[in-house]
Amino acid sequence: MVILLSRRCFLVLLLLATFSCFSLKLCFGQDSITFSTPVKDSETLLCNNGIFRFGFFTPVNSTGHLRYVGIWYAKVPVQTVVWVANKDAPIHDTSGVISISGKGNLVVKDGLNRLIWSTNVTLPVAPIPNATWVQLTDNGNLRLQENRNKGEILWESFKHPYNSFLATMIIGTSNRTGENLKLTSWKSYTDPSTGNYTAGISLFPSRELMIWKSNVTIWRSGPWNGQIFVGLEDEVALLFLDGYNIISDNNEGTFTVSYATDSPMYHMNLDPDGLLYIRSWSTSTRAWEIGNTIPTTTCDVYGRCGPFASCSVKEVPVCKCVYGFVPRNSTEWNRGIFTNGCARRVPLKCNVSGGGNGDGFSKMQKMKVPANAEQTLANEEACPKVCLDNCSCTAYAYDQGIGCMLWSGNLVDMQSSLRSGIVDLNIRVANSHSDPEKTLSKRAIITASVLGVAFVAAVCILLACRKFKKRSAPEKDRSAEIMFKRMEALTSVNESAPNQGNLKDLPLFEFKVLAASTDNFSLINKLGQGGFGPVYKGKLPEGKEIAVKRLSRASGQGLEELMNEVVVISKLQHRNLVKLLGCCIEGEERLLVYEYMPKKSLDAYLFDPLKQKILDWRTRFNIMEGICRGLLYLHRDSRLKIIHRDLKASNILLDDNLNPKISDFGLARVFQVNEDEANTRRVVGTYGYMSPEYAMEGFFSEKSDVFSLGVLFLEIISGRKNSHKEENNLNLLAYV
Ligand SMILES: *[C@@H]1O[C@H](CO)[C@@H](O)[C@H](O)[C@H]1NC(C)=O
Ligand SMILES: *[C@@H]1O[C@H](CO)[C@@H](O)[C@H](O)[C@H]1NC(C)=O
Ligand SMILES: *[C@@H]1O[C@H](CO)[C@@H](O)[C@H](O)[C@H]1NC(C)=O
Ligand SMILES: *[C@@H]1O[C@H](CO)[C@@H](O)[C@H](O)[C@H]1NC(C)=O
Ligand SMILES: *[C@@H]1O[C@H](CO)[C@@H](O)[C@H](O)[C@H]1NC(C)=O
Ligand SMILES: *[C@@H]1O[C@H](CO)[C@@H](O)[C@H](O)[C@H]1NC(C)=O
Ligand SMILES: *[C@@H]1O[C@H](CO)[C@@H](O)[C@H](O)[C@H]1NC(C)=O
Ligand SMILES: *[C@@H]1O[C@H](CO)[C@@H](O)[C@H](O)[C@H]1NC(C)=O
Ligand SMILES: *[C@@H]1O[C@H](CO)[C@@H](O)[C@H](O)[C@H]1NC(C)=O
Repeated sequence: MVILLSRRCFLVLLLLATFSCFSLKLCFGQDSITFSTPVKDSETLLCNNGIFRFGFFTPVNSTGHLRYVGIWYAKVPVQTVVWVANKDAPIHDTSGVISISGKGNLVVKDGLNRLIWSTNVTLPVAPIPNATWVQLTDNGNLRLQENRNKGEILWESFKHPYNSFLATMIIGTSNRTGENLKLTSWKSYTDPSTGNYTAGISLFPSRELMIWKSNVTIWRSGPWNGQIFVGLEDEVALLFLDGYNIISDNNEGTFTVSYATDSPMYHMNLDPDGLLYIRSWSTSTRAWEIGNTIPTTTCDVYGRCGPFASCSVKEVPVCKCVYGFVPRNSTEWNRGIFTNGCARRVPLKCNVSGGGNGDGFSKMQKMKVPANAEQTLANEEACPKVCLDNCSCTAYAYDQGIGCMLWSGNLVDMQSSLRSGIVDLNIRVANSHSDPEKTLSKRAIITASVLGVAFVAAVCILLACRKFKKRSAPEKDRSAEIMFKRMEALTSVNESAPNQGNLKDLPLFEFKVLAASTDNFSLINKLGQGGFGPVYKGKLPEGKEIAVKRLSRASGQGLEELMNEVVVISKLQHRNLVKLLGCCIEGEERLLVYEYMPKKSLDAYLFDPLKQKILDWRTRFNIMEGICRGLLYLHRDSRLKIIHRDLKASNILLDDNLNPKISDFGLARVFQVNEDEANTRRVVGTYGYMSPEYAMEGFFSEKSDVFSLGVLFLEIISGRKNSHKEENNLNLLAYV
């Protein structure tokens, strides 16, 4: 069972294949420091598997020649530092030495033998010179261990994290030990000294993930309900379901986040601008690839709209007073200054008469609930009453996993109508406001008149558009003509190319149109990160929704081949394949335009504890059948024989009726057209889905896809990710 070899083993093989500059000298670097073997500035420590290095470094592009002691990726060509010891005390020359002190600590000293940094631990017994030693482990942890006492660990860098959160590390908090591990940003990209941002977990008043600037909150995730953070949208929430285990232990009073995989080539990073994101090393582009960042949208910024206002990126302006409230200062509000928020239109009865029962609630659905929720033991029925009975209570919400949440005072940092929201917020308002009977007729009239106005406006716009369209048509044709000319000029080198005539068949998009449709490839529109580049949601001027894939630069492929391939692939049509609508090639930019799938990918459903309930057995069977049909078409029935090579749950998109459509097919072909089809040295794909002969030898055929299909089916049936660890630390495949 070769496939059962650990993922780390694959990784090492891949790294060996990828990094050609792998030299013997690096391979046999020392991996430990003892009393008698200190490390000088010119030397480094290399962990056993060769992935991490520890020693002196100077940050790239930094001014001066400051020397810091830290840990970085040994074989990644861009300097990627994951931990720094003397972050606020650099050494100004190359005379520094790392050694074990007489008292057993790991210390950094400068040329004049002055102490720069120390692990600062006190040994349990009177130290002898040779009592401790230091080792850099394979996962990038620097450990100070005792020689005696069964090698007890006295200090480790994983317990003193800096800006990076590596696999197998744990961050979190425990009110039993008082330990609270957080990430801290660098001051700037070139200055590793302590920056202004920190990220970590807060336990009180609710359990949330937070980012702070100095001591001020700038982002929060919403409370943890035992399965998800209730304030996060799918894409971001998946980031946590995907790679991280969140362990909440009420008895211990601890709450920790740890990695579910052990791949050292992933890590979470808090950058100097306070953005938190996951980076993974792409062996194909030889660069770090970044998924969603946190905060993601303008609404994620803490308190964006001020008190009693909720934020929604789908609306203009993004801030809106909650029901029963009006802007505190409408002059400011109309100018887009929302910080003062909103005020109550009608005072609460509670305040006037001292009896809470004169008030009621207005309900807002799918909310990121306000900050500072107070948790109570009340059940679902009692929750509203507990709130009504206390005059200072301004809202309540109930969630199965969290229980009854109450708020008093201002309600801040709300987001409304989250796509993946599950918590409804009930805001206390004066009874005359919450009573639906009284407001219904008024609202109906308003709605009717609004609809009337909207209808007239729509007719006007339609008429205007028709006129406008007629006038602008020749203009549009001309730019298309220019595009075709340019494309032909580019491809005319090879007059005899068989597919030349087909070029005109492929719709070409102008870069500026695609840029405008995706709001300049803004993060808000990012749908995900595919193997060949990020994908954005776009809206064409005529209103059609599209998905735009911006291919990473390093495709290493000729323009003609790319064009010809894309033309051919765009002709493949099958109801279980995502349709390619066109492409765009301008300068360095290569973009592919696909139909937009509002339901996103299968993994978003399959691995989400809440959404997976939608997938009943019938639906799962339909999805499996559809994938088979699509794959059969690619392998056998289409004009080209296409081997997908990266079949996995995130590459299966779902349409409105949950019919599966395979995406990213043909891309492997586009990228690999010049290589020997039977054996490639550059292995693309995803660990866990790759057949052993492909992952290890690079041999691939239709059978490789069928292997991936098997893994995918296991996931569909079990609802578990192959990469997650089952019992005995086995992945799903091995476990089955
Ligand atoms: C260093 O400077 C070069 C040139 O200005 C730039 O391309 C590169 O991104 C910089 N690297 C970092 C880590 O800032
Ligand atoms: C070590 O401990 C001393 C005294 O407790 C303190 O002054 C010093 O800053 C500490 N050094 C480090 C590197 O933590
Ligand atoms: C230090 O300890 C190691 C292992 O315990 C031992 O092999 C070595 O001889 C000791 N060296 C000295 C100088 O005591
Ligand atoms: C960090 O905070 C300090 C004090 O608030 C401020 O002076 C400094 O400009 C901030 N630095 C960055 C990089 O934001
Ligand atoms: C943050 O720290 C500053 C200065 O130390 C203090 O004035 C301010 O009140 C603090 N803010 C919060 C929210 O604790
Ligand atoms: C954690 O702190 C809370 C509140 O202070 C307390 O109720 C709880 O008992 C503590 N848990 C432990 C394990 O100390
Ligand atoms: C509203 O804000 C404007 C601009 O900040 C200020 O001049 C004005 O006095 C404010 N009005 C009230 C009623 O506070
Ligand atoms: C009660 O009224 C006072 C004064 O009008 C106001 O400051 C306070 O915020 C009100 N409290 C509530 C819960 O509405
Ligand atoms: C009402 O709520 C406030 C704030 O949550 C709390 O401090 C107070 O004890 C509550 N009063 C009663 C009578 O429960």
